Amino acid sequence: MTIIPFWFIPSHGDGRWLGSDEGSRPTDFGYLSQVAVAADHLGFHGVLLPTGRTCEDSWVLASALAPLTHILKFLVAVRPGVTSPLFAARQAATLDRVSGGRLLINVVAGGDAREMRADGVTLDHAERYAQTDEFLSIWRRLMAGERVDHQGDHLFAESAELLFPPVQAEGPPLYLGGSSDPAIAVTANHIDWYLTWGEPVAAVREKIGRVRDAAAAQGRSVRFGIRMHVIVREQEEAAWAEADRLISRIDDKTIALVQKAQAASGSTGQRRMQALHGGRRDRLVIGPNLWAGIGLVRGGAGTALVGSAENVAARMTEYADAGIETFVLSGYPHLEEAYRVAELLFPLLPIAARDTHIATARPGRAGEASVHHTARYDQVATGPS
Ligand SMILES: Cc1cc2nc3c(=O)[nH]c(=O)nc-3n(C[C@H](O)[C@H](O)[C@H](O)COP(=O)(O)O)c2cc1C
Repeated sequence: MTIIPFWFIPSHGDGRWLGSDEGSRPTDFGYLSQVAVAADHLGFHGVLLPTGRTCEDSWVLASALAPLTHILKFLVAVRPGVTSPLFAARQAATLDRVSGGRLLINVVAGGDAREMRADGVTLDHAERYAQTDEFLSIWRRLMAGERVDHQGDHLFAESAELLFPPVQAEGPPLYLGGSSDPAIAVTANHIDWYLTWGEPVAAVREKIGRVRDAAAAQGRSVRFGIRMHVIVREQEEAAWAEADRLISRIDDKTIALVQKAQAASGSTGQRRMQALHGGRRDRLVIGPNLWAGIGLVRGGAGTALVGSAENVAARMTEYADAGIETFVLSGYPHLEEAYRVAELLFPLLPIAARDTHIATARPGRAGEASVHHTARYDQVATGPS
C-alpha cells in the first residue's frame, strides 16, 4: 500500500479564519505560485485546481503554474456542458504537451443549477450526466488519435481530430467526483480515478464498493482518491484548538446563509456533506479525528482530519485500507499548512515515489503539413495565422 499526496491551489481565496475577511489573502498570482512551488518542492504529487464562478480560471492558472514547477501534476476541471469535446481536448493536449505530460482531468458535470445556468447550461442533473457520458465517449476517441463523427442527443462533431497529440498515451487520466447514481454510471464507463469528499471511512468503503461493482460490470477497473482538509500538529490538543480557532470568527448568520444555499444545490455529493453536520456547531466531530467544521461555510470538501501526526496518519491508513490511494489535502492557510503536512505527516506514511520522468511531446501533424503544404493540410480548412 502506498499513498499519493496531492495539495490544493486556493484559487478562490485563502486566509487564517474561515468566514471572515480578517487575515484573508488575495488570490494573486504571486501567492498562488508560492503554493504551487512549495507543493512541488515538498513532494506532493499533484495539485487540484477548483473550477467555478468563485475561482480563477483553472486552465489559465495551470498553464501559468506549470513552467514554475518541475514534477507537480495539475488536476484541472473540464465541464462538458460548457465546452465542446474537441475544443477541450485540444486545450488538454496542448497543456499536456507544454507541461511534459503533467495534466490530469477532473470531469465536472456540475451540481449547482444556478451556476450552470449562469454558464448557459440549462440541462437538468440527469441530462448533464447523459451529456457527460457522450462527451467522454468522443473525448476518449480523440485522445486515442481517432477522427470522430458524432451525432448524439446532446453533442455534434464532424471530422473532429487532434492534430497535436497529448504526451500521455490515451490522454491525461480522467478523474470524477460525483456521488449520484448517474455519476457512478459515468465513472464505470469512462473514468480512471473516482474521487469522494471526506466522508467517514465506512461510507467511503461502501461508495468504493458500489463504484467497483459498477465498473466491473463494464469490464473496467477504477482507482480511488479522497478530497479533505487536514489540521495536523505535534500534539492532539493543539490540532483541535486550531480547528476551533479557524471557525471562531464565523457568525451564525453566515452559517445559515451558506447552509441555505447548499440545501438548494442539486448535488448528491454536496447533500451528503451537509448531512454530516446539519449546519450545527455542536455536531462537528463526526468520527475519530474527523471534523465537519469547514462545511459550515464552505461548499464542496467540508471535512478535515484533525489531530496529532500519529493519529492523522492512522486515520489516513484506514482510508487507504478501504481502497483510497490519492489524498487531495489542504489546510488554511495553504502555504504554511503544506509545510506542516509534509514535515509532520509524510515521514509517518508510505508515500509513493514520484514520477520524475518529464516526457517529450511528439510532433504535431499540422506542423508537418504546413511545412509541406499537403492536401491534408488544405482539408484542415484554416491554418495558423
Ligand atoms: C474532489 C472533488 C472535486 C470537485 N471539484 C469541483 C469543481 O472544481 N467544480 C465544481 O463545480 N464541482 C466540483 N466537484 C463536484 C462534482 O464534480 C459534481 O459535479 C457535483 O458534485 C454534482 O455531482 P453529484 O450530484 O453526482 O454529486 C468536485 C467533487 C469532488 C468530489
